[in-house]
Amino acid sequence: MPRPDPGQRAARVRETRDRSARGVAVRRAGGGELRLAVADPERHRDHERPVGSRTLAPLLAVTLADPGPRYHRSFLDALREYHREGLHTDLDPRLLADRSRFLRWLDEVREAGVHGTAPLERDRVPHRILWWIEGDEYLGRARLNLRLNDELAEFGGHIGYDIRPSARGRGHATALLRAVLRVAGEAGIENALLTCAPGNHASRRVIERNGGVLADTSAAGRLRYWCLTRRSTPPA
Ligand SMILES: CC(C)(COP(=O)(O)OP(=O)(O)OC[C@H]1O[C@@H](n2cnc3c(N)ncnc32)[C@H](O)[C@@H]1OP(=O)(O)O)[C@@H](O)C(=O)NCCC(=O)NCCS
Repeated sequence: MPRPDPGQRAARVRETRDRSARGVAVRRAGGGELRLAVADPERHRDHERPVGSRTLAPLLAVTLADPGPRYHRSFLDALREYHREGLHTDLDPRLLADRSRFLRWLDEVREAGVHGTAPLERDRVPHRILWWIEGDEYLGRARLNLRLNDELAEFGGHIGYDIRPSARGRGHATALLRAVLRVAGEAGIENALLTCAPGNHASRRVIERNGGVLADTSAAGRLRYWCLTRRSTPPA
């Protein structure tokens, strides 16, 4: 992708500063606006270096995809990996090994996103689940919340993600978040809120490499970052 000329970049930085001065307003699920200040974006410029130039080559065939039956076997393998570190233990790979059950579960995932249903009250907003895929291989997943509620503003934000353990440390999460931010922008989210545990250094780097600007620590003890979703679009 051609780098923007310095004039365009300066204009974008000015635009970001203006936003910073006003704070960031996002629509809340229950109506009304949630407004949070953002920190100085000038302090977070290192996202401007190309993402993982040393790790990008193996990522060329990697893409976001809707969850689908094509990834059945690989998803089950990934689930076993996640379980070894205590992630996604609500999903049982032995049950989901049954193809018709897996297909039903995929339908439920899609429906839950459309209607904003979820076991946890916090997650009850319209959302999209997107998988990070290489060929037929499942590498990771993201959840894009199309709206925030009060709890997501404290813990969860607009976007959550994970990469299966065997695929970590190769730049996938950084590239995945970049792609999901684009989808968020297309869905009308101009500033995406990302929250992260202070001790999750890998995730903090993922967010910072995607232009995340640290705002504050939420009452739930999460670092809150804001990411502009359309950074590659020059201002009008
Ligand atoms: C956090 C997570 C998504 C990172 O995935 P990943 O694909 O390994 O991340 P990347 O390869 O894109 O690495 C991103 C950055 O983190 C750094 N990093 C990776 N693993 C790290 C670790 N264990 N400790 C510190 N930094 C680490 C990388 O060096 C890279 O930094 P750099 O760009 O300065 O070189 C993955 O570890 C994961 O799924 N964890 C469990 C779920 C989770 O924590 N999700 C995020 C919730 S906010």
